[in-house]
Amino acid sequence: MVRGVLGKPIFDLVPYLDLRPLPGIHDEVCIGLTRITDNEYTGGSHRSMGIMPERLEAEALTDYGEIIADMSDEDFLVLGAMSDTPQLWDLERRETVTFGEERDVLLNQRQMRWLEVRHGVYFPWKTYVELMPGGRWDEKANPKGKAFTREALALFPKTCAFIRALPFTSIGSVKLLGLQPHDHGTVHRDRDGQKALHVDHFVTFCPGKNKRLFVYDEETDTRHVATTEAYWFNDADYHGVLADPFFRYSFRVDGTFTPEFLARVERSAAP
Ligand SMILES: [Fe+2]
Repeated sequence: MVRGVLGKPIFDLVPYLDLRPLPGIHDEVCIGLTRITDNEYTGGSHRSMGIMPERLEAEALTDYGEIIADMSDEDFLVLGAMSDTPQLWDLERRETVTFGEERDVLLNQRQMRWLEVRHGVYFPWKTYVELMPGGRWDEKANPKGKAFTREALALFPKTCAFIRALPFTSIGSVKLLGLQPHDHGTVHRDRDGQKALHVDHFVTFCPGKNKRLFVYDEETDTRHVATTEAYWFNDADYHGVLADPFFRYSFRVDGTFTPEFLARVERSAAP
């Protein structure tokens, strides 16, 4: 079952936001992405994180959580030597430490690239730029200690200005998520659906208007595809991205919406 936002699997935000800057932002982003120095990958372990619907688990292809758990001690040491914290890649403690996103020890880009080329790991999002690093997933709306990076301010000034003007009282995370041609975004949920009593506040916008994110209904095997360039969904619902034969990206901005904005969308969504 899809929980949705205000009765919709995907809540269209186009009527509520001033999106006139998006064409200029798209030009800025396409140039900026040729110049960034800290691009990373993300995803790649949704199955081993246990956040996928059972019937779609095969779509995760090769999962690095499984690969790291099963690899030889020799490979584990090779991977650990590439780390920014090699002392944490200790054979003696291998069974008690977890590696990767939302786990004890993060992977760096060099390690992810090696997992990709040596072990065939599938990383769905091969362009991942944190314009405002959000920390762990449960801290993504908390603004404490958060700021746009110097690189974001230098390369994406129009984007940062647009984000600052969104209807948030505070922002805790800004991410750009891009997929290579033909890649799909593995279906997962960001939070446990059972525990998600409220809908987290965030805006997704897609300046290129060409990324087909969808919310997935496990019961009916239905994909509700986003059709507009700005929207909100319940991230405790399963969601993914359809494959397309070209690069596409979107931004996700997490924070706390203003009471005025919430009142406006609730008013308009009321029957
Ligand atoms: Fe997600």
